Amino acid sequence: MLIFSPEIPMSLEEFRLLRDFVYQYCGLHFSEDSRYILEKRLGRRLQHLRLNNYKDYYYYLRYNAARDQELTELINLLTTNETYFFREEFQLRSFSEEIVPEICRRKQEKGERRIRIWSAGCSTGEEPYTIAMLLLENRAVQGWQIEIIGTDISQRVLQVARKGLYGESSFRSTPERYRQRHFRPQDGKWLIDDSVKRLVTISHLNLFDRPRVALLGRMDIIFCRNVIIYFDLPAKKRVVETFYQRLNPGGYLLLGHSESLMNITTLYELKHLQHDMVYQKPLDDLPGGLKP
Ligand SMILES: C[S@@+](CC[C@H](N)C(=O)[O-])C[C@H]1O[C@@H](n2cnc3c(N)ncnc32)[C@H](O)[C@@H]1O
Repeated sequence: MLIFSPEIPMSLEEFRLLRDFVYQYCGLHFSEDSRYILEKRLGRRLQHLRLNNYKDYYYYLRYNAARDQELTELINLLTTNETYFFREEFQLRSFSEEIVPEICRRKQEKGERRIRIWSAGCSTGEEPYTIAMLLLENRAVQGWQIEIIGTDISQRVLQVARKGLYGESSFRSTPERYRQRHFRPQDGKWLIDDSVKRLVTISHLNLFDRPRVALLGRMDIIFCRNVIIYFDLPAKKRVVETFYQRLNPGGYLLLGHSESLMNITTLYELKHLQHDMVYQKPLDDLPGGLKP
């Protein structure tokens, strides 16, 4: 029987190989002083796969027949999935009171009654379900077709999102009436109602997989909160440009409160709403995503 030491040391060369591989794959950026983080998190995989060093793990990720499955494990270990319902209250107020009514007015003038919202990097689903709960009580979209698409690169979190069963910490900033109205107790946790669930589609998607992102079609609003903080500048640029292509003219990009597009792109207009500042794709933009 092979005995593995609990911590297999990662050389600088191995760190660089794996770091570059991860970056190319999904944009997650690990600086050189975070070598120990990769070592700690990926050590378990080496043991599980009975590999002797990180170079072998790198070759496994590149060439093994089971590489897709291992990529899933790798991503599950490297992503930070912290989230909860009704995160960032001021932005959600702007969303309900200003953004949704504005988009609806514009669409109605063209005879449209469908709104499409993407929660990009939705983690365990609290964000897209919060959007759904807010829309269920928003008069502007009564009788409208509502599509909310929640996507994430981690299969592990998506399993939770699909189940819709949440513990206490997910409710840390949820007004109690929402829990009473849209959840029922199950196994010491809370199960979300089908009336909320059916507005949301949960899908696996890497934001750097451009052809697959394009299949999502056009969006009216994109929430991408607390995701791009983990990317470096070129990766941030790539992702927010991808979002630009996906948004309808006049559509909104909502980032986390600690994130901004300063020094990343000038494509969007910064709009000061009553409760928050948000980014909007200019209304005069052409459908292909290019200004006239
Ligand atoms: C901290 S959570 C944010 C969850 C939620 N948006 C919120 O603000 O509460 C970040 C999520 O981004 C996802 N993520 C990171 N890189 C990604 C990529 N390249 N493609 C898709 N999702 C990614 C992670 O798996 C993680 O679930």
